[in-house]
Amino acid sequence: MTHLEQRAREYARQNQERFLDQLKEFVSIASVSTDPEARSEMVRAAEWVAARLRALGVNQVEVAPTGGHPAVVGEWLGAPGQPTILIYGHYDVQPVDPLELWQSPPFTPEVRGENLYGRGASDMKGQVMAVLSALEAVRVTTGGTFPVNLKFLIEGEEEIGSPSLPKFITQNRQRLQADFCLNPDSGMLGAQYPTITYGLRGIITFELRVSGPKSDLHSGIYGGVVHNPAVALAELIAGMHDASGRVTLPGFYDDVLPITAAEHADFARLPLDDAYYLEQTGVPALWGEPEYLPDERVGARPTLEVNGLLSGFTGAGFKTVLPAQAMAKLSCRLVPKQDPAKIAAGLRQYLEQNAPRTVRWELVEFGGSPASISDVNQPGVKALQKALESVWGVQPFFKREGGSVPVVTQMQTLLGMESVITGFGLPDDNLHAPNEKLHLPTWYRGIEAMVAFLFNAAEN
Ligand code: BES
Ligand code: MN
Repeated sequence: MTHLEQRAREYARQNQERFLDQLKEFVSIASVSTDPEARSEMVRAAEWVAARLRALGVNQVEVAPTGGHPAVVGEWLGAPGQPTILIYGHYDVQPVDPLELWQSPPFTPEVRGENLYGRGASDMKGQVMAVLSALEAVRVTTGGTFPVNLKFLIEGEEEIGSPSLPKFITQNRQRLQADFCLNPDSGMLGAQYPTITYGLRGIITFELRVSGPKSDLHSGIYGGVVHNPAVALAELIAGMHDASGRVTLPGFYDDVLPITAAEHADFARLPLDDAYYLEQTGVPALWGEPEYLPDERVGARPTLEVNGLLSGFTGAGFKTVLPAQAMAKLSCRLVPKQDPAKIAAGLRQYLEQNAPRTVRWELVEFGGSPASISDVNQPGVKALQKALESVWGVQPFFKREGGSVPVVTQMQTLLGMESVITGFGLPDDNLHAPNEKLHLPTWYRGIEAMVAFLFNAAEN
């Protein structure tokens, strides 16, 4: 480790409290991208990030319009001859409901024990701030420089599938061009297991609406002659899996690549057995395709999920109604080679073949994004591997994750750019759930790892 790196890492350790204060400020902005009423908070979050970048000496910082929520871009090109790294992040967060289950308000960040609680603390304001804090440590201790050239893309639509990003990337090709992208939007297997993610699943999302009678009916007067839309929807959903947990939609597995023996060995090496998933989730028993390991089912197999169900009367007490409508929010996680459009066509075909004549149905598609596999032999991965090892003292795990980060595929196809993917969140951080939190001792290590990464990424 060079003297400069050592000084920057010391600075990072000495300034943990201040970094935490900055993160709290960021987390207190209610930037829920899916909420039309949060528009001004989205702009406030983007401006907040832009101000941080300017304070770090980043040039050409702009809160750039995208057609949707703005993206923050900027660059620092003061290291001629050194690689250029595009730093990706998202300032948007998921909705907070059910609000009553939060122990402290989601946008009033609070430290309890070793954790910071608040929406976005882990996904991914904490990860963005790990990188920006590392940059501050480097900048201050080197007298205003960085060991590599930097570009920034901090977007506001990741949690809604990054719909405006393909066009923005295409129109800003030059401004974003870099040797590779650092994407800290993934996480770790556990606090002692630094992790590099080299695969992410794709996704496609839907709303399935089933309707029957022209209005809600008295279930005594019409029960027995009208097919209840809630029951019809439940039957359709139940038919989407077989008894072994396989999805029954036509063509669903057509393009899925088999898991090779080498890949299987990689999955089997990870410390993610049945007991791990039982403990993390609290379910009485696991479920899913029995011939695959649990981490294979998450990382390398496609799925279909119900994300929400709505029909009839759900208040206190009861109401004898035969509901006019029922609705389900559905999504499929996809693996490499699966085409979101083909999967959507398969779902439509399933509905055409299986929906009963007694109800009407409508399928709304919200768009999708294909899966990604990243090159593990690129120099950025080596730099990250070395950085993680120098902080945790163990070799990082390489993992294919089940979550989706659409920008990774977008950068591959639109810019020919590979991503180096990591993150310092933990599996029990309650992502997308009440009481989201960030484990601070792990986050501080993450900041130091990002300092080390910046030095490792330079070609000496
Ligand atoms: N950071 C997550 C994805 C993730 C989670 C990667 C855990 C690795 C481990 C990301 O912000 C996310 O949640 N993405 C959404 C995308 C969707 C809304 C299009 C997802 O995966 O549900
Ligand atoms: Mn995220």
